[in-house]
This record gives sequence, C-alpha cells and structure tokens, in this order.
Amino acid sequence: MRQFTRAGAGGTMLAADNIVRTGEDQHKEPGDMATAQRIDGKAKAAQMSAEISLQTEALRKEHGLQPGLAVVIIGEDPASQVYVRNKKRTAEACGFYSEQHTLAEDAAEEDVLKLINDLNTDDAIHGILVQLPLPDHLDEQKITQAVVPNKDVDGFHFVNIGKLTSGNTSDAFVPCTPAGCMLMIKDHLGTDLSGLNAVVIGRSNIVGKPMASLLLQANATVTVTHSRTKDLAAVVREGDIVVAAVGRANMVKGDWIKPGAVVIDVGINRVEVTVDGETKSRLTGDVDYAEACESAAAVTPVPGGVGPMTIVMLMANTLRAARFAAGLEA
Ligand code: GUN
Repeated sequence: MRQFTRAGAGGTMLAADNIVRTGEDQHKEPGDMATAQRIDGKAKAAQMSAEISLQTEALRKEHGLQPGLAVVIIGEDPASQVYVRNKKRTAEACGFYSEQHTLAEDAAEEDVLKLINDLNTDDAIHGILVQLPLPDHLDEQKITQAVVPNKDVDGFHFVNIGKLTSGNTSDAFVPCTPAGCMLMIKDHLGTDLSGLNAVVIGRSNIVGKPMASLLLQANATVTVTHSRTKDLAAVVREGDIVVAAVGRANMVKGDWIKPGAVVIDVGINRVEVTVDGETKSRLTGDVDYAEACESAAAVTPVPGGVGPMTIVMLMANTLRAARFAAGLEA
C-alpha cells in the first residue's frame, strides 16, 4: 500500500510526487494489502464538541452571552426529523440555548417567512437553520435567502456563498458538511494540498460546490464530477482526494480509488439487507467501504464519519455567530 508522508496540523505536507512506498508493502500483492485507516469522524466531533462547550462556558462567564440556535423543520420527512433531533441534542450538550420550530407539511410560505423574520430579529438567537429538503410547494431559494447572513449558520445565503467562492472566509459561514469534510482531509494531509488532485463527485449547492471552493482554497487541483461526466471511474481514479456526495449507495467501487487516496464519503443511504433470512435496514455510504479500504490510505465510515462532523460544524458556526454578535473575533 502506498502512503502519503504526512505532517501534523500546520506542517508542510509532501505532495503527490513524494508518495512513499513502505518496504514492508513492496512485497505484498494487491489482495494482501493492509486496509486503510478508518477516519473516525465521531471521535473528532466529540472532541470538538467538548472544546465548544468550554468556549461556550467562557463566553457566558466573561460576556454574559449564551449562543442560541433555532432549527426550523417543515413537514414529516423521517430522515430530517432524526437530523434535527441530533442537532438540538448536540446544541444543548454544548451549552447553547436551542429552540425547534416544527411546521406542518402544508405550511404557507408567508408563515415560514414570517417565522424566519421573527428569528432574524430575536436577540437570543444567533444561528438559524431551516432543514432541507422543503416540501415541494415552498420556494427553497426564497426561504434560504430570507435568513440574515450573520445568522446563516448553514452558509446558504448568497453573501456567505460569495465570500467562500472569493476566498474571503474570515467572517463567512461555510456550509457545515463540506467544512467538516475539509477538517478531516486536513488532519490527514496537512493544510496545504498543493500538487494533489481532488475529485468531488456531485455538484449540489450544499456539498459539491462549496467543497470544491474549500479544496481550491487549500491549493488542491479540483475536478467536480456529476451525472453527465464521461467515464466517471477514470476521473475518480486520478483523485488523491475523493469526496463522494451523490446519494447512491456503494456507487464508488474499490477499483475507482487511486492507491493511497483519502476518501471522504458524504452519502447516507438507507438500504435493505437480508441477515439470516431477515430483512433489515441499515445505513451505507456512496462508497463501497470494504473495497475502498483495499487501496485507499484513509476512508470515512458511514455512519460515524461525515455525519457527526456536519453537526459539530453547525455548533462551531453558531458559536462564531454569537461571538460576532458580541463584537468578538471568531
Ligand atoms: N439537509 C441535508 N443537509 C443539510 C444541511 O447541511 N443543512 C440543512 N439546513 N438542511 C440539510
């Protein structure tokens, strides 16, 4: 197996041409390769959450301020309900004030906009999140753009998107999923991705596009692929970093992965599996994890990889929003 020579946070990473082959691995056949490192997003998120709790306590003691997060959920999408419950639970564990607004599936657009407007002007609320997807009759753009940019902890407002794509992230809110992915990538490869090819699979506004901006800002050479990409497997095979965000279970196969790549799996797909004649439902990613482990240097599992990091980045953004509101630095 090939390995990148890594440096710790802030250190200099050796680029792709400096990939080293360990002596031990030179004698192994592909089938014998050691499996990849499992990137433990759950453990990293727990560490970050503990750090955010400490900072929240300090903010309360020194400035009398408690970060406040409002989560709005419209309709009954079961997956969204689980995500929102986890967000609320983590917010409370971090010491935030948190409120959830649950609106009916057929909520009128003007009522949603009125609620957002009230939250925009509520001093106890520093971050607002409207869980997506929305019911079909609601205009997603109108609703996401109604959140004021300084409370837009999802990073979906055009002001925050503009800051990110132009490389001005010092006071921007970056979307939580790509921000979490980027932290895991930098943990493995260092902060400077010069000379590395990054392949993003999926061009959504929530993940693919902001992910590409972040990778570009870290000097990676970025390719964004999508459903119209020709010979996707061949393109992915060029990636030293692969971020899969398509929502198709196990689509990315082991032989798509370049030896030594770092693979980030954003997909959370529910699939039915039969165990001892019994049909069960379980979560799986966009990447065939077992196969990818045969060639990658490191892979995020599903669950336990990107998911917990997304939630903790929401907390980090909310804490930042509260600090900005108090006139403090990030
Ligand atoms: N639905 C899936 N991911 C997200 C996210 O990051 N933010 C919001 N608001 N909705 C989502």
